[in-house]
Amino acid sequence: MENKIIYGVTGIFDTPDEIISAAKQVKSSGFERFDVHTPYPIHGMPKAMRLGASPLGYFALVFGLTGAFAAFALMTYLMGYNYPLIISGKPFIPIPAFIPVTFEVTVLLASVGTVLAMLFLLFKLPNNSHPLHDTDYIKKVSSDKFGICIEAKDDKFNENEVIEFLKKIGAKDVEVIYYDNETLNFKVNIFEWKFVTFLVVSALVVSGATYIVLNKLMFARPFNWMMEQHRIDAQVESKFFGKDNFSMRVAPVGTVSRHSNQFKFSGQPELADAKLVNPLIPTEVNLRKGMKKYDIYCSPCHGYHGLGDARLNGQFPNPPSLHSEKVRNWGDGHIFYVITEGQNSMPSYSSQLTNEEKWSIVLYVRALQRAMNAKEEDLK
Ligand code: HEC
Repeated sequence: MENKIIYGVTGIFDTPDEIISAAKQVKSSGFERFDVHTPYPIHGMPKAMRLGASPLGYFALVFGLTGAFAAFALMTYLMGYNYPLIISGKPFIPIPAFIPVTFEVTVLLASVGTVLAMLFLLFKLPNNSHPLHDTDYIKKVSSDKFGICIEAKDDKFNENEVIEFLKKIGAKDVEVIYYDNETLNFKVNIFEWKFVTFLVVSALVVSGATYIVLNKLMFARPFNWMMEQHRIDAQVESKFFGKDNFSMRVAPVGTVSRHSNQFKFSGQPELADAKLVNPLIPTEVNLRKGMKKYDIYCSPCHGYHGLGDARLNGQFPNPPSLHSEKVRNWGDGHIFYVITEGQNSMPSYSSQLTNEEKWSIVLYVRALQRAMNAKEEDLK
């Protein structure tokens, strides 16, 4: 008996009325650390024991405020500073749009936090032993008796006095409850070899299983995650597109690749003027082609004869005449340059015309110029 640590003293009562009056007397005698155990809830008990409000509400408050603040702060930081996006022209920190998420996170943290606080702080999990477990007392009060237990932790506690006191207020079966020595002396030893082996084995099993699932099982037939695809490699012979046996496609007829026309004289009209030579000669075919392209692409602004008489009715600034001294004295390369790069308000025609088409237009522009400024010898 000597080396046992006392938990408290219990007493049994027969009726709800008795236990209520007992609780009142224990409380008014100045005991603070006592508890009442009954088979079912008894009305008026909290009042008789003069219990205060549960602290759980404060946990809910603290967790709820934490959730609200955390959600709001995170969204404000992300949307306002870290990664601001314009969404339907709204401000970067649209407070009304934050409300639903803030509300949800508030409720989530308040509820989960309250339950966890109840389990771990108030119920003291994972400790699941209690000195009252397995006593006659708890067996009685969980079937048809009503019991009261005054704990040794109470400041006023004195074993003999409490026993006398309980008997005086009418308790039967007054019993002294001790802590279970086995429970008290139990030490968790995490370095015990069995436990360590268990940890190592479970780590190996889990990582092995994860490895097999993620690297083998997931890729067993029929799952190939689109890694095997019927594809045609560039430069390799293939009949897929037809009889030409090419796996790569050539640009459709009449289209102009934006990337294949790298212009060497970009930004250097004088150099283009000096260096570029028209590779086409003025044959009828070339001139007809130039006329066709000129009529399509140039005539809307420059007019059919290059006089600057646009058909656009002032929707675009009228260009100067192509028969000016200036343009007539330009080299072919300079006209080619203007078609390729544009000039001031005139846009580039590089994405509409191939180099060959541009040169044919240059031929045609030259022909127009010559027609407008014919010399004596041209008439011969
Ligand atoms: C959208 C109207 C428009 C079209 C289409 C157009 N141009 Fe022009 N072009 C202009 C304007 C405007 C100017 C004057 C730009 C400037 O202010 O320097 C100009 C200038 C020129 C010049 C230089 C004239 C000079 O005196 O500086 C040449 C050459 C020229 N264009 C040739 C062409 C050719 C060839 C085509 C057809 C491929 C063509 N343009 C299509 C509007 C157009």
